[in-house]
Amino acid sequence: MIKIFYFSGTGNSFWSAKKIGQGVGGDYELINIGDEAQKSEIIVEADAVVFVFPSYAYGLPIIVRRFAKSAVFKTSYLAAFVTFGTSPGGTLGALRRILKKKGIEKMYFGRIPAVENYLAIFGTQKEKKQKRRVSMQEKATEEAVRAVIEKRENKVCTCRVFSAFISRLFSLGVKIFYKSYRVGAHCTGCGVCEKICPVSAIAMKDGKPLFSNKCEHCQGCIDICPLRAIQFGRVKFGSPGYRHPDVTIAELSKTET
Ligand SMILES: Cc1cc2nc3c(=O)[nH]c(=O)nc-3n(C[C@H](O)[C@H](O)[C@H](O)COP(=O)(O)O)c2cc1C
Repeated sequence: MIKIFYFSGTGNSFWSAKKIGQGVGGDYELINIGDEAQKSEIIVEADAVVFVFPSYAYGLPIIVRRFAKSAVFKTSYLAAFVTFGTSPGGTLGALRRILKKKGIEKMYFGRIPAVENYLAIFGTQKEKKQKRRVSMQEKATEEAVRAVIEKRENKVCTCRVFSAFISRLFSLGVKIFYKSYRVGAHCTGCGVCEKICPVSAIAMKDGKPLFSNKCEHCQGCIDICPLRAIQFGRVKFGSPGYRHPDVTIAELSKTET
């Protein structure tokens, strides 16, 4: 049995995680890190463990770091894949540092280019560029499948000082970012944002979403809101949001995954 742990705001990492599961063959389980990390004791027993998650500010999303640190892995092989929009910097090195301390010997680290989803900074990418990135993601995911089947091993540098600095700053920011989410008057209270939030940071109150400090700033709610009613600070999003073209809202919703 292969256990595939994913974290995904807009579906890129979920899509690659799903394809890796299907491509490797045999039994596999897809597990949302956001749900798993809630447990007080996490023991992961499997023939192989696979991580798939996005790069955030050249580093690990906070929930991925917390999960990797707190889980006990009873496995002989672990592979980790980062999806990213421009450069993942030291993301994989940060994970390797944590896992090395746990005594895992056989590890593989891979990079999967994907569509950039950080709309608050970069805006929505043009359709042509998105298509190019989706096709790059497909190729890199096929390579990831081969790496897991062959149980490849490699190493990544664990000493990326600049990345560690940027990632640390971002982590400090994330603790207060949730206070800057705004909901427009045109929000109908459909609750899609609550359902797709991978870390259950949104609760509906009086028909409107309320954001809590569990928010990872993944952009899922902003992008997936059908009315584009969620804003971050003063950033207004007029253009269509992004979601991986082959991932449905149902797949990202808590009840369906
Ligand atoms: C808060 C935030 C920070 C990000 N930082 C980086 C980064 O440092 N480098 C990069 O290449 N992409 C960065 N991205 C882009 C995502 O890593 C990329 O689009 C990823 O595939 C999204 O995966 P998902 O759809 O599974 O959430 C960032 C995205 C967000 C939302």
